[in-house]
Amino acid sequence: MKKVMVTGGAGFIGSAVVRQFIEETDVHVVNVDKLTYSGNLESLKSVSECDRYAFERADICDRGAMDAIFERHRPDAIMHLAAESHVDRSISGPAEFISTNIQGTYTLLESARKYADSLGGEQKANFRFHHIATDEVYGSLGDEGFFTEETAYRPNSPYSASKAASDHLVRAWHHTYGLPVVTTNCSNNYGPYHFPEKLIPLMILNATNGKPLPVYGKGDNIRDWLYVEDHARALRLVLEKGKVGETYNIGGNNEKTNLEVVETICAILDELLPEAAPHGRLVSFVKDRPGHDFRYAIDASKICDELGWKPLETFESGIRKTVQWYLENRDWVEHVTSGEYRNWIDRQYGGNP
Ligand code: NAD
Ligand code: DAU
Repeated sequence: MKKVMVTGGAGFIGSAVVRQFIEETDVHVVNVDKLTYSGNLESLKSVSECDRYAFERADICDRGAMDAIFERHRPDAIMHLAAESHVDRSISGPAEFISTNIQGTYTLLESARKYADSLGGEQKANFRFHHIATDEVYGSLGDEGFFTEETAYRPNSPYSASKAASDHLVRAWHHTYGLPVVTTNCSNNYGPYHFPEKLIPLMILNATNGKPLPVYGKGDNIRDWLYVEDHARALRLVLEKGKVGETYNIGGNNEKTNLEVVETICAILDELLPEAAPHGRLVSFVKDRPGHDFRYAIDASKICDELGWKPLETFESGIRKTVQWYLENRDWVEHVTSGEYRNWIDRQYGGNP
């Protein structure tokens, strides 16, 4: 792969993928992002001056813009991460999820198909459409068992239903039109540059600001956590070595109840900021999320056995790094939470693309 187009490259996981490509390989990257509330070019400061990096502000629902970007950059592969990604937002306002996750993926598939058909020789043979999916499409587990690549789809939230629809479209474009796709379904990510409305960054920032830590229900729902850099490495590996038409589950084998996660963050903060201890006094049990999935747990043996992937971080090492990152990067946090960054976007690009 010489040039990869990454959609959603200004988001949490997309920016980790872009930074890894630029910092650890000689691959060229074209970042295609609409810069919604969760897209942040400040997460790409360390690579934005590199001549192997290009940015296109565009909406994946815009067919003309997608066709033009494929033509202008002529990538060898596309990694599709652009999405509306927050379950709570999908419950209060599902429309954007239907539009970006379903219509947007459809538009991108059609644009990619036209582009792939125009290629010849080796570039055609090696072209890949890598779809980045979630474990939430499999629904909710009880106390036992794991999600495998064979688990039936049972999405429960507007977010997971829209992502499931996008996975089905990708599968159908492979089966019907022969588009060379690979799909990866991953568990909950955490790490630096995570927009502070998701559990882990929200808890770190609320705790450091002496605000309540809102734990839904009893805090006994279980998520399977993976450090974002480990996910990005897995994605690059699947793009390079994954078999066309196959799906790979990615997870870190780190099941924790939400309360365990919050208590771990509080314990690390007690150590790093002892003057404000105990941070655990801020825990506040609040109304549960409607339709809250009880447990997610990934069986990642296929990607481990077939492609040799292994996460480098344990939950203990990754969560410590994450808490430290948020304490050391107050500017990034200040800009995303104060709206200063949005004002800059509006000045730079003038409203929506
Ligand atoms: P994110 O919300 O941080 O980033 C999404 C990015 O997509 C943002 O940069 C945003 O500006 C961009 N975007 C949104 N709508 C767009 C549109 N219409 N056109 C172009 N760009 C648009 O999300 P994330 O957590 O980085 O997730 C990335 C992908 O990984 C998503 O597809 C998500 O479903 C999937 N995923 C996330 C997790 C997780 O734990 N965060 C786990 C598994 C899979
Ligand atoms: O499993 C993968 C999914 O993980 C991704 O597909 C999604 O894009 C990503 O957002 C994430 O979804 P979750 O709903 O699991 O993540 P979130 O951080 O919103 O919530 C994690 C758990 O914490 C969940 O059980 C709800 C709970 N929670 C969340 C928030 C924001 C709380 O208890 N309090 C909160 O304030």
